[in-house]
This record gives sequence, structure tokens and C-alpha cells, in this order.
Amino acid sequence: MNKLKIGIVGCGAIGSSLAKVIVKDFSGEAKLCALYDLDNEQAVGLSREVFGRPTLAVPGFNQLIRKSELIIEAASAKASWEIAKLALSHGKDIMIMSVGGVSSRFKQLTVLAKNNGAKVYIPSGAIAGIDALKAANIGKIKKVILTTIKNPLSFKGVEYVEKAGINLGKIKDATVLFSGRAADAVKCFPQNINVAATLSLAGIGEGKTQVRIIASPKVTRNIHEIAIESDAGDIFTRTENILHPDNPKTSYLAVLSAVAMLKQILEPVKIGT
Ligand SMILES: NC(=O)c1ccc[n+]([C@@H]2O[C@H](COP(=O)([O-])OP(=O)(O)OC[C@H]3O[C@@H](n4cnc5c(N)ncnc54)[C@H](O)[C@@H]3O)[C@@H](O)[C@H]2O)c1
Repeated sequence: MNKLKIGIVGCGAIGSSLAKVIVKDFSGEAKLCALYDLDNEQAVGLSREVFGRPTLAVPGFNQLIRKSELIIEAASAKASWEIAKLALSHGKDIMIMSVGGVSSRFKQLTVLAKNNGAKVYIPSGAIAGIDALKAANIGKIKKVILTTIKNPLSFKGVEYVEKAGINLGKIKDATVLFSGRAADAVKCFPQNINVAATLSLAGIGEGKTQVRIIASPKVTRNIHEIAIESDAGDIFTRTENILHPDNPKTSYLAVLSAVAMLKQILEPVKIGT
């Protein structure tokens, strides 16, 4: 069997976890071929860790494209559109983690993938319910509401909160910081960009998906609740995320979700929508 050649762009918390899993758990089906990071030391360090040598680290994205059949983007929302565009135009499949960077260009992505015979994979990330949302969306959806609840300290440095004059240190009870369209939430709260973007893409779009962002001193985990009203019934999910030990901005479940998607790509039996 030919092994799927995988290249990873961005060797931080997510990229490193995926590289380790590919080498350790998927060695029969996949081969890690290239690692690229703007900070070359990151790619070299990861190559040494998983391969014992620095040879997987490549100096540029073009070299990574040449060596890979599936490219995993785990870099940044600023770069994900350019990375996806280049990968797809070379006919390479891409898994995108920085979803916020491509959400407004999803039609272009789809056309590029179609024209070049390539595929785009977007894992569910740190939320539960994408499976049911996709199924319900085949019928009719009336409403999708995402409620994100985080400790006030998580919103430190968020420009929108500072401009609104909210004193995070003084919040004693759950306080709504934002309520509105996903399209505006991703602009005001870049840290929530991936959850809102993935939910919007899987469902009724950024213009119709509603988002509420709440600061509560009573919570220590990042909580995402999703409420869906559809003609197939009402759906409610709640995810209480534990944070990734290497990057407190990233939920551990988001990493596992990418691994689960990789498993789906590599294994013959696919379960779930
Ligand atoms: N889809 C989801 O649910 C989800 C969840 C968490 C994080 N993310 C996103 O995934 C991405 C990676 O997250 P992480 O926790 O691993 O971040 P991280 O900061 O730990 O690592 C990112 C790495 O990418 C590198 N990088 C940045 N820009 C680059 C570029 N243009 N080309 C090559 N390398 C580049 C950085 O040097 C760094 O080593 C982020 O954009 C994050 O927002 C998505």
C-alpha cells in the first residue's frame, strides 16, 4: 500500500502533536515527509524529536508542497488562505486548522479544490455538534446560537473589550461581552475565530449564525454551547475544554479532532456525518 505523504506547516502546539501521532500511530498508512515553520528552529527541533534527525525540516513552503500529498496547515489565520491557495493550485489536499483565515473565501477555496482535483478538510475543532448540524442542514435550520463562556482573564488584551471600557478584574457574575452575528464576533474576538468560523461554514453561514460571548469568574475551562433549532428537532451541545499544555490558547480537543479527521482520511470505514 502506498503511504500518504504528509507535510505540516506550523510546528507549534497542534503541528507538533500531529507530527508525533503520524509517526507513532499511523506509520502503516502515512509518512511524515516535510515540516515547515517560519521559525526554522521549530521545524528542525520537531524533526529531531520525531525522526532523530533534522532532515524533515524544509526551508520554504514550496519544498513542502513538492514533497507532500496532504498538507496540514497549523500556522496562523493570517497565512492560512495563502497556504491553502498554493497547496490546492498544485493539486495537493489540505487540512486547515486556522479556519478563521479562510472562512470569508470559502467559495474560492471550493472552486480551487474542484478545478485541481484536490480536497479541503476542516476538523470540528473544540466544539461538539458539527455532525448533527451538517445533517440538520440538509433539511431546514431556523437558528444556530453559539455561546462561549470563558474566565474574564481570557479576554485580557482583547481590543473590543478594552474599547468598551469593561474592567475584567471587577466582573463578579457572568457578564455578556458580545451578542451578535458570527461575522462580527470573529472580528471583535479573534481568539474565538476558529470555533465561530467552523460552526458558520458547517451550518447557515457567518451572517445568520448568532454568537454570545460571556465572561464568568466561576469557570476555569473554555466552554462552548451550541443550540440549534431545525425542522429535524432541537439540538444542544456543551463542551468544557481542557487547554493544551503547550499553548493555553488552544483547546486539547481541537488537536484530537484533527487526529480524528486524519484517521477518517486514512481508514476505510468512516463513522459519523
Ligand atoms: N480549528 C480549531 O478548532 C483550532 C483550535 C485551536 C487553534 N487553531 C489554530 O491553529 C493554528 C495553530 O495553533 P497552535 O496552537 O499550534 O499555535 P502555535 O502558536 O503553538 O504554533 C503556530 C506555529 O506556526 C508558525 N507559523 C506562524 N505563521 C506561519 C507561517 N506563515 N508559515 C509557517 N509557519 C508559521 C509559528 O512560528 C508557530 O511555530 C492557529 O492559527 C490557531 O488559531 C485552530
